[in-house]
Amino acid sequence: MISEKQRKRHATLCAEIERHNRLYYVEAQPEISDFDYDALMRELLELEEHHPELRTPDSPSQRVGGAPIDGFETVAHTVPMLSIDNTYNANELREFDARVRRGLGGEAPAYVVELKIDGVAISLRYENGLFARAVTRGDGLRGDDVSHNVKTIRALPLRLDGDTPAVLEARGEVFMRDKELERLNKLREAEGEEPFRNPRNTTAGTLKLLDPKAVAQRHLELFCYEIAPLPGVELVSHSDTLARLRRWDLPVNANHRRCANIDEVIAYCDAWATRRYELDYEIDGMVVKVDAAAHRQRLGATSKAPRWVIAYKFPAQVARTRLLDIKVQVGKSGALTPVAEMEPVKLAGTVVKRATLHNFEDLAKKDVRIGDVVEVQKAGEIIPQVLGYVASERPASAKPFSIPRVCPVCHTAVHKDADGVYLRCLNLACPAQVKERLFHFASRKAMDIDGLGPAVIEQLVDRGLVRGPADLYRLNADTLKDLERMGEKSAANLVRAIASSKARPLSRLLFALGIRHVGQHTGEVLAAHYGEVDRLMAASVEELQEIYDIGAVVAQSVHDFFETPENRALVEELRALGLILTEQRAAPSGAQPLAGKTFVVTGTLRHFTRDGIHERIKALGGKPTSSVSRSTDYLVVGEDAGSKLAKAQALGVAILTEEKFQALAEDRG
Ligand code: IVH
Repeated sequence: MISEKQRKRHATLCAEIERHNRLYYVEAQPEISDFDYDALMRELLELEEHHPELRTPDSPSQRVGGAPIDGFETVAHTVPMLSIDNTYNANELREFDARVRRGLGGEAPAYVVELKIDGVAISLRYENGLFARAVTRGDGLRGDDVSHNVKTIRALPLRLDGDTPAVLEARGEVFMRDKELERLNKLREAEGEEPFRNPRNTTAGTLKLLDPKAVAQRHLELFCYEIAPLPGVELVSHSDTLARLRRWDLPVNANHRRCANIDEVIAYCDAWATRRYELDYEIDGMVVKVDAAAHRQRLGATSKAPRWVIAYKFPAQVARTRLLDIKVQVGKSGALTPVAEMEPVKLAGTVVKRATLHNFEDLAKKDVRIGDVVEVQKAGEIIPQVLGYVASERPASAKPFSIPRVCPVCHTAVHKDADGVYLRCLNLACPAQVKERLFHFASRKAMDIDGLGPAVIEQLVDRGLVRGPADLYRLNADTLKDLERMGEKSAANLVRAIASSKARPLSRLLFALGIRHVGQHTGEVLAAHYGEVDRLMAASVEELQEIYDIGAVVAQSVHDFFETPENRALVEELRALGLILTEQRAAPSGAQPLAGKTFVVTGTLRHFTRDGIHERIKALGGKPTSSVSRSTDYLVVGEDAGSKLAKAQALGVAILTEEKFQALAEDRG
């Protein structure tokens, strides 16, 4: 039996913990230490342990994460989650403003400008004020239900106080602070794990973890910035939206401003281009939004993005540091890349000490010398690159780097690509290349051989035990156990891991072989098309090129690879060693109303993204292709269809609107 006193204590604890969550995560004004907070949480968990009936869905105990889940359910968004178009300078912002004013028949709107948080978009559904579901953006129409994980975010209220609509969908961004990433990386490094690269990818990865308890330990945070237009939610303006979100204690970023005209917008964006470094989380720009709901409604949206909003992207972050040395790396296809070794410097939320210098031509053009102060930038956020040196800081001792004439590893003369800028070591037996190729072969997305990391490969190649992938399958535990840092047990495990990789499907093997231009996706496309390796090996360039998603360059590269006698011999060796070299075809599930039909899609669609409709066609047995020909069965047309429509009409190809396509897909056509 539960006493009145215990019930009261439970209510107090819940209220107190949620108040502290709010103070810490929403208002950034904590009142108690982490230690005291943990004590309250422990007391709550113990109380609920003894009296499970107290464990309501909005109890803060729900934030510590429940049992692991099997996977994420895909759910449709009630209102699609569109993306935003980008601008990169003041002129483009003015063009946006001009478009908006034209759309409003000459009326000049007010704007609200916000920070563009560099995180992961999320849709939060509340039913009668109670948190019901959190869904990722996915393809904009359907996303993954990540409620278990999002619940662990302490800034997320599990219950909204006050007047709430029956159904509310708030949109926002889940993100991670720089200092949290640092904290996690310290822990990871202590355990010998690779550090996370940047906060955004870590956030995305964390939301996809299957164990909510692990998610709870990585302190994700949240900012909300939109309310989806649903019945029962009358919104007047964006300013009103933000005020309401805040009244419900949903976290709203304090840095936003209402601007009367585009000049004010530009000034505010400019101010943040430098102020952003004061923040301890990443932003990649600003978001400019038309304020009045009535204006937004009149402007509407294209299939991709609303016309009332635009992103203003900052130029990538740049940092300065000293160049200590230049090392030459040999890649798996022999390309030599100069890599800068630098004094560690903070850049876009992480500490970097290595950066790419692309190639020697680029290095010569930039005239970067060892000892220089260099500027580094993150390209695509992950791999930093050296932009150039700072002339005013060049020391007299700065040393130019001479272009290598021989491979730094096998010392054979290097050659320059006929059609490119790369220097290449053409010695296929070069140990550096062999190691890189083996490392790629064993990697997780390729043959996924657990325990075959760089340290083991290094020794296997250096001791002459392995010269190529086939040799791996001839290794035994006796040989392996003599390697450094390898005991009997790990040797046996490795042999087992190698053996079980024999059953990997053809798609993975194709990727693993390191054929130029064949990534994971192309591996899958080729394997799905041919089903087994012999048919693929016999394919002509023309035939390869006819496959949807395979272009001329890829077709040529695949063909060349299988024309080379050594590579054919390798395939035969792998076959003899027991690799399966086939792809299990997924049995078609469900109805296949589009079976055998070829589709081309053109123009802007309202209900599908381009990938989305291609997936749907494939799922229903049809074949999406990219150009209209006599063998095309249907052309699906969206808005602004151009030359493909004309060609289809000329050839007499059946033309479908989106609605007709849907009807056909659902077998109503
Ligand atoms: S509004 C339809 N506001 O940026 C408009 N988005 O590059 C909905 N983002 O997908 C988005 N900060 O994930 C909006 N203050 C902000 C934002 C923001 C970050 C993200 C969002 C969006 C992406 C587009």
